[in-house]
Amino acid sequence: MKRSILYIPGLILSLMVLFTACSEDLSEYYSVEDFRTLSKNLELPTVPYNYAVKLKPPFSLDIIAPTTSAHNRTRNRDDVATLGRVLFYDKALSKNYTLSCGSCHKPEFGFAEAERFSKGFEGKLTTRNSLPLGNVVSFESSYGTSNPGTQTAKFAWDDNTSNIKRQSMLAVTSPIEMGLKREELVHRVNEQEMYAVLARKAFGLSELSELSIYTALEVFVNSISASHSRFDQQLDATGFRMTYPAEGDEIPVINGFEEIEQNGMELFNRNCASCHSTFHKLVAQSAGNNGLDEEYADKGKSLFTKLDKHDGVFKIPFLRNIALSGPYMHDGRFATLEEVIDFYSEGIQPHKNLDEKLRNEDGTPKRFQFTPAEREALMSYLHTLTDEKSMMLEKYSDPFLN
Ligand code: HEC
Ligand code: HEC
Repeated sequence: MKRSILYIPGLILSLMVLFTACSEDLSEYYSVEDFRTLSKNLELPTVPYNYAVKLKPPFSLDIIAPTTSAHNRTRNRDDVATLGRVLFYDKALSKNYTLSCGSCHKPEFGFAEAERFSKGFEGKLTTRNSLPLGNVVSFESSYGTSNPGTQTAKFAWDDNTSNIKRQSMLAVTSPIEMGLKREELVHRVNEQEMYAVLARKAFGLSELSELSIYTALEVFVNSISASHSRFDQQLDATGFRMTYPAEGDEIPVINGFEEIEQNGMELFNRNCASCHSTFHKLVAQSAGNNGLDEEYADKGKSLFTKLDKHDGVFKIPFLRNIALSGPYMHDGRFATLEEVIDFYSEGIQPHKNLDEKLRNEDGTPKRFQFTPAEREALMSYLHTLTDEKSMMLEKYSDPFLN
């Protein structure tokens, strides 16, 4: 009894010290008033998370620095990404306040969705399967979209959207997805007092413009990186640095891999990697036709290029986190990876634009006829590409209190 009485003043003292330390911390980054404003709706850290993406050669961060004037006024990328994170999960970005970007791009599914098609703000379905946003190196470094000189691929299944700012604008204004008018977006955002604080921190602006909204979304999306899969970790440990192995190149032995995973990787490199690179390469190929059908209901890239050679041509997705982001293909037709392997094994169709890499010498579809052991090996390799832990980091999660 006596002892605990003695402890009380000590306890009070340490609480006071702790409290002063906290409020000093707060005032260093956000003023007490600003943090109070933010905390009405959001659970944010007192100092922003670090959103820097560590890229492995040959990528560099220079490639992903957005070149917009709004971004030039940026003081701190972490503040812009924090703003982007709030926007990403803000349901005020949809007409009837029912969904956010995060409704169709969920961290637990590699920032895709587990449904074939996603429900828009009025329950209407999207016409294509949601694409995962958690790919290994951030989008722009992979695709080089902000550097026209090196731009190799575009966004969306039909390979048509030049950058994430534009893709965000399309989602916000789509009559199926979020249904807002462009002016409405700016008003919706600026009428919420938390954005005044976030805008000032991120851009030194008192209000957000349309461009600064999309820039912040872009910086946040670009910060999502699934580069700690087992494959990446083992590859790093191997010290192996190259693009994808070309034919005849020696394929590295990955020390920490089980034999079955190594076999799967070798099969993958022989048959799949020329389109879907998993090594450190910009993109092996950005779009193509993989013979899902003889006639495509969705014409893909030709819908906007109007070129017959683009009929049935779709984006070739990165396969990091592929085990998380099913269902698969532009229309989500395959529920499981097993079905995907069955398709490549037996089901490739003779479409007129079927990519050469999936044809035999006589032009017929190359059906890989994988043996049961090969299927199993491919499956286990594809599972080494999962980095769920990075997807579930607090800094990418929904910050809204309700
Ligand atoms: C109603 C569901 C839905 C909402 C809401 C939504 N998306 Fe998407 N998103 C999709 C679908 C479906 C696709 C694939 C569309 C296509 O390719 O035609 C996609 C594609 C993308 C892509 C392209 C990825 C790639 O690899 O090419 C990006 C980037 C993206 N969305 C970001 C966003 C952002 C940012 C927001 C919020 C402003 C958002 N999305 C809101 C469903 C949605
Ligand atoms: C000619 C290039 C090419 C080759 C070779 C190729 N693919 Fe694909 N792959 C594609 C295209 C194109 C798509 C998207 C097709 C669509 O949705 O219309 C795709 C889609 C996929 C998807 C679904 C991705 C998603 O996010 O939904 C998986 C998984 C996949 N391929 C695995 C493989 C495997 C395993 C191999 C080797 C056995 C392979 N691919 C070989 C072009 C290729």
